Amino acid sequence: MRSRTTLLGPGLLRMIYQPAIKRHLSRVPLIRRVYNGWLRTHPIDRHLKVDTSGYMEVDQITASEQLRKLVIPYAGSSPSVVRKALTMLPPVDDYQFLDLGCGKGRAMIVASERPFLGITGVDLSRDLLDIAQRNIEVIATTFPARPAMRVHKANAVEFSMPPGKVVLFNYHAFGKELMTTLTQHLEACLATTTEHLLFVYYNPVYAEVLDASPAFTRWYAGTLKCDREEIGFAPDDDDTVVIWESVRNRIGTPHADAERPVVTLQPAWRAGLG
Ligand SMILES: C[S@@+](CC[C@H](N)C(=O)[O-])C[C@H]1O[C@@H](n2cnc3c(N)ncnc32)[C@H](O)[C@@H]1O
Repeated sequence: MRSRTTLLGPGLLRMIYQPAIKRHLSRVPLIRRVYNGWLRTHPIDRHLKVDTSGYMEVDQITASEQLRKLVIPYAGSSPSVVRKALTMLPPVDDYQFLDLGCGKGRAMIVASERPFLGITGVDLSRDLLDIAQRNIEVIATTFPARPAMRVHKANAVEFSMPPGKVVLFNYHAFGKELMTTLTQHLEACLATTTEHLLFVYYNPVYAEVLDASPAFTRWYAGTLKCDREEIGFAPDDDDTVVIWESVRNRIGTPHADAERPVVTLQPAWRAGLG
């Protein structure tokens, strides 16, 4: 399947960015989504020769009517925000990195800059995962010393957690119902095979679910600016990130202000779900 970026094509993209056309089209519901920046080819793609840009609607992600009501469309995170969020973690060399809702693998690629034991991505969409697989092959060829990466097709809330220590990443991938199911699943894993868990939640729309869990405690909370060259490739120039650590094998003193209240911007088209 071709991504939405390809379907629009560079000529059409140039045309719809003409100021007069943009002014009119951005008043039209659905079409206004085109102007959120996600459809532009992101600098990370040009720099690394990968394909992580674009947007994929929920009806292209899954054929399941039931899941369509619960999941969020594909759009890549801002690499510099992911990079800054990962610097908030303790040393990660004995942790697996797991992106639940990995899409084309953009956050995985950024995570591969760090010495994780391994990097795994999970998504519902075979089309997105095929692109992610090509991307990780490019990264493995370009940077052979980086951690091994792999992807799986699965519903994130049913995926078996790797044993040991895990950094779990989620860029607002689903609604409250699935976040609640995931949190219950993680609580069960933490009672058995998961030794320690750091949960990095980018655009943490349902932070209250993790805040309410007795298995987690806040490690970091803040708003991170994206780098200058990434401005205009996503709806916002900064994003909120909250990190929780598991109470099991708690490692120490959290960042200052980790308990701050979370404010997330979620225009209806972005949140997708109530
Ligand atoms: C906002 S995108 C994030 C992409 C990627 N993590 C990144 O940072 O660039 C959310 C992704 O989650 C996937 N997704 C949503 N619900 C899911 C679920 N229940 N299980 C697996 N993947 C899911 C979507 O297909 C989409 O690719």
